[in-house]
Amino acid sequence: MKRSLTPILAAALLLSISACNDTSKSSVDMAQTDSTSTGLQLDSTKFQKEIDGKKTNLYILKNKNNMQAAFTNYGGRLVSLLVPDSTGKLVDVVPGFGSVDGFVQSTEPYFGATIGRYGNRIAKGKFTLDGKEYTLATNNGQNTLHGGKKGYQYVVWDAKQPNGHTLELSYLSKDMEEGFPGNLNVKVIYSLTDDNELKMDYEATTDKKTVVNLTNHAYFNLNGEGSGSILNHVLQIYADQYTPVDTTLIPLGKNVPVASTPFDFINPTTIGKRIDAVNEQLTAGKGYDHNFVLNGTKGLGMIHAATLKGDKSGIVMDVYTEEPGLQFYSGNFMQSKNKFKGGATDDFRTALALETQHFPDSPNQPNFPSTVLNPGKVYKTSTVYKFSK
Ligand code: BGC
Repeated sequence: MKRSLTPILAAALLLSISACNDTSKSSVDMAQTDSTSTGLQLDSTKFQKEIDGKKTNLYILKNKNNMQAAFTNYGGRLVSLLVPDSTGKLVDVVPGFGSVDGFVQSTEPYFGATIGRYGNRIAKGKFTLDGKEYTLATNNGQNTLHGGKKGYQYVVWDAKQPNGHTLELSYLSKDMEEGFPGNLNVKVIYSLTDDNELKMDYEATTDKKTVVNLTNHAYFNLNGEGSGSILNHVLQIYADQYTPVDTTLIPLGKNVPVASTPFDFINPTTIGKRIDAVNEQLTAGKGYDHNFVLNGTKGLGMIHAATLKGDKSGIVMDVYTEEPGLQFYSGNFMQSKNKFKGGATDDFRTALALETQHFPDSPNQPNFPSTVLNPGKVYKTSTVYKFSK
């Protein structure tokens, strides 16, 4: 990986820093100004656009260990995450694009995005609240996926950067947007701590009863963007059960034990070991694309959800969450149609997602934990991706 910026890129980045300062009217941490010396290869001018009458930009967080996270408010997206490997070299573990246009044009809509109003699928785009049936925009065959046709990945969030390690994004999702009832005020706070944690704190309030399931759809390759398959990554998921699905990836209604199935990741296991096993669930997902029911006592803070290790880099990522589920998606629909910031294409299974969330189709599944949000209540949930080597 090239580790220095050209003078043009460096100048562009500095320009953007003052632009960020103007829009957010907040102080920009010193950390941003020396990002040129630590390998961030993004040209911030390529993130400065106007979409739906709102300005987009690039925002950078840094910690004392040289970790750097870059975001754009277009889709509330994580664009890049530089993590030191065992030799201290910075590795970009989040495949993404080098411009807003890259995200706009991508055939895969969800790279790094904040997902809402409802992460994962809702069967046939319909659900009922208090006897009233709501019909959503469908965008995944007959189902609604990740909030509908124009989910939160395609909206411009308001951004504030109070300091060099925090970014606050907010968005008003209007009543009946994509068919969901209620004006939903959504906030996502991203923080990068000196313990190498990328923290995502979500908050939402509504003025009408609605359903909410927010998550982030960062794709990870712990060996680095463009470094090939994730099949040799080693994964551990702290879940004794998972949620079998039909051929449209809608839950069959019951969670079942992972024991004696290719879904048993209780002990660290190489992802590729059983991904091609003869198994009707793996056939349905074209690989792993399933919800895991996390062990641990819900409502008592963070649960350790998963540990992922990059086989080449030695980088370890631990996922902690307050959510009851984790969607493990092994990049089965990646089709080499889009070009990442470093030049590689998004080839089959070269990145994976670990999406913390409530279970798929919960609004239609009475046995699953509820995703209903009432007026006067605050939806609040946090997820942490912690890095070590
Ligand atoms: C879904 C996949 C989908 C992917 C990317 C995941 O959360 O479960 O089925 O292909 O997102 O769009």
